[in-house]
Amino acid sequence: MTQTKKEIFRADYQPPNYWVRWVDLAFLVEQDHTLVSARILFKRNRAIMDNTLFLDGQHLSLQRLSIDGDEVAVDDLYLTDRGLLLHDLPDQFELRSEVKIYPAENTALEGLYQSGEFFLTQCEAEGFRRITYYPDRPDVLAPFTVTIVADKTRYPVLLSNGNRLAAGDLSHNRHYCKWVDPHPKPSYLFAMVAGDLAYIEDQFTTANNKQIQLRIFTEQRNIDACDYAMQSLKNAMRWDEERFNLVYDLDEYNIVVTDDFNMGAMENKGLNIFNSKYVLAKQNTATDQDFIHVEAVIGHEYFHNWTGNRITCRDWFQLSLKEGLTVFRDQEFTSDQQSRAVKRIEDVRHLRSAQFAEDASPMSHPVRPDSYIEINNFYTLTVYEKGAEVVRMYHTLLGETGFQKGMDLYFKRHDGTAVSCDDFRHAMADANQMDLTQFGLWYSQNGTPVVTAESEYDADEACYRLRFEQHPPDSYRGKTAWQPMHIPIKLALYDDTGRPLKLNRQSDTHIVFELTQKQQSLEIENVSGRPTPSLLQGFSAPVRLKQKLTFEDWAFLAQHDQDAFNRWDAAQQLQQNIILAKYRALQDNETHKTPKLFFDSFRQLLLNEKLDKGLVALAITLPTLQSLIVNMDAVDVAVLHRAKEQLVDEINQHLQVEILSVYHQNHTDEPYQVSARQVAQRSLKNRCLWYLVQSGNKEFYHLCHQQHKNADNYTDTITALTLLAHRQAPGYEDLLADYYNQWQEHPLMINKWLSIQATIPAEDTLDRVRQLMELPVFSLKNPNAVRAVLGAFCAGNLTRFHAPDGCGYAFLADQVLALDTINPQIAARMVSLLNDFRQFHPDLRHQMLSQIKRIHAADKLSANVFEIVDRALQ
Ligand code: ARG
Ligand code: ZN
Repeated sequence: MTQTKKEIFRADYQPPNYWVRWVDLAFLVEQDHTLVSARILFKRNRAIMDNTLFLDGQHLSLQRLSIDGDEVAVDDLYLTDRGLLLHDLPDQFELRSEVKIYPAENTALEGLYQSGEFFLTQCEAEGFRRITYYPDRPDVLAPFTVTIVADKTRYPVLLSNGNRLAAGDLSHNRHYCKWVDPHPKPSYLFAMVAGDLAYIEDQFTTANNKQIQLRIFTEQRNIDACDYAMQSLKNAMRWDEERFNLVYDLDEYNIVVTDDFNMGAMENKGLNIFNSKYVLAKQNTATDQDFIHVEAVIGHEYFHNWTGNRITCRDWFQLSLKEGLTVFRDQEFTSDQQSRAVKRIEDVRHLRSAQFAEDASPMSHPVRPDSYIEINNFYTLTVYEKGAEVVRMYHTLLGETGFQKGMDLYFKRHDGTAVSCDDFRHAMADANQMDLTQFGLWYSQNGTPVVTAESEYDADEACYRLRFEQHPPDSYRGKTAWQPMHIPIKLALYDDTGRPLKLNRQSDTHIVFELTQKQQSLEIENVSGRPTPSLLQGFSAPVRLKQKLTFEDWAFLAQHDQDAFNRWDAAQQLQQNIILAKYRALQDNETHKTPKLFFDSFRQLLLNEKLDKGLVALAITLPTLQSLIVNMDAVDVAVLHRAKEQLVDEINQHLQVEILSVYHQNHTDEPYQVSARQVAQRSLKNRCLWYLVQSGNKEFYHLCHQQHKNADNYTDTITALTLLAHRQAPGYEDLLADYYNQWQEHPLMINKWLSIQATIPAEDTLDRVRQLMELPVFSLKNPNAVRAVLGAFCAGNLTRFHAPDGCGYAFLADQVLALDTINPQIAARMVSLLNDFRQFHPDLRHQMLSQIKRIHAADKLSANVFEIVDRALQ
């Protein structure tokens, strides 16, 4: 298989020569192959004078093809491994084709493939071309009719998009099912499933009083773990009606669960397909975080029904049109269901460590990329999470009412069509009579802008002045000079007692300052005494903010800021400053002494009973190494790790009594619930346990064992097990062995077991990882298992991955090369773990680069992996 590595440019977009009026597909599913018959009515695009048509098609074995009933000899076709070219076509014609495909051999998990004993599809982004010849591009929309025929015993369940129209028995123990999806859709939203699946069902009554049939299908062994997902689906449907006025538009909604999936889940019209990780959840198998993720992903895919399916993307460069918007919507859903403050902090923490790293790496690209070789490489944190931040900025600038006005206009203008990010921006602007021209730069300029803030207080004039300046990101790589962006900066000022000042005639205590020029100032009058500024509240723009605050200022904000996000952030700044000071001291062979103010501030947060406990838990959680590394250069990982450990030890020395008492206060025997209150309480308790166990004190190992033994929920058991294993505390090997015996038949549970071990911070962990990969529960063919071992080791065990001798990098490269022949999408994800090489000490960086070069030089690389390593070497 020779893959072409052609770069595709956004500027080259051309509308299609032919539209599709309707599609009628028939699948004859056999055990070792599937026969796909297609009837497609094409109609010439009158805006274009071109009577040729290219149909995408890969890994298809063409049996026959006819145009308006005239058979075309296969030998007479312009057929390549990318598709086929038809020419001299009439204005309208019916194409019929028959192809044979081999789903059981499809390890790439794109197109039609096998999982366990059943068959299913994944078509986004370009998987449909592995099913039949078709213009596999998102701007070609058509209604689909699908008939599936299969053996009745082996494949009793036959599903596709839309509503089920008919079903019945056929000869030879076969049966069929016919599905009709009346809503025109692009091919990437096609789905079909055939297999022996069990299901749970429920109903939802919409705001316009329609009964919707809801079903979740899964292999029989998992049928008792779908209830939480079903409840989440109903919550999501209600929420979208209440908050966005969006009502479901088919008679049924089906979800199918699989253990073999490249991503999280897929929003196929009326037939979502989910990675089992985001559906299956029970009290004794799922953590609080797992439950919350299930709810979020169920919501995300449901919300796509309007933002993605009813209005879709004109081309794949516009991916953030649907993903950024839908992530924003799922974030709001979670915020309304759980704790808004906690959700915001967790999202920004992730953005600032992982997306900022991506934005500083060779893979840096705008939210709307300008080119790609392999589109699957652009399902990125930038498109998803930064894209959601861009949508959030509209919301910040326009308010909830203005934002919803924009959404209404967006649907009014574009429902049923394929559009661009600019169309969305214009709807927001026009609905609010606001000029959002400059705002468009958020889609076109890559990298994270830097904003500096300086302040000046004039006591005589009682005037406070803030001077902002914006700077281009180092990684900016546009063809034209970088231009200043439209940056909303939400801010407040506090007097020395912690009271917010009135900032304008309306007496607002916070305002949104719109930074649009390179340099711009804000003056506040009648300020009696120098205030403390709280800038970029709620992280109102995805920028790096640099301000000259003192240690005392941060401590003050950690104590007083009424904006939960900034309060947490102030605590983080203190912690980061101390860790970095210790890091520098260690490099200079000096000792650093932590100021007493730090412990006072930490204690004050820890013991504050008025605060949301989830917020306290986050505020006392030290920054991850990853989040520190993005703000540093020439990083020596081992030293950074030691610096952080020193701080942990000192916190334990000063505050162990308090930490232990907060642990006990929050260790209740209430029956388990996934309520916001209980989740917060458990997260605080378990963060306390983390500190206690880090001290290495036997008494706390014992406490951990107790929690492990007595817990009625998986959050508490797995936390205790992880802490013991990571310290390699007495008894941990037995606990791991027991866990394996109990759960070896349950892939999701075993994946957690694999990850715990891959993240043990010990010298011999790489050997352990190699052994784990020999077990029957591991397979390179299963993406979740690969992420659980390789992903966890490389991204979650930084001291081992960055071992000074480079063995971690060589190991990753070996695995990437092996994976690339099996599943290029996953191989590309894994090789991307080397992408932050620029941040590290030259000794490490050179070894990372030499593995990248080794991969680059390998024969027959997929386009996926090639694009990542090739960019890294540019
Ligand atoms: N649209 C899916 C989502 O909601 C992502 C699926 C993309 N899959 C892929 N192989 N690129 O996030
Ligand atoms: Zn999505």
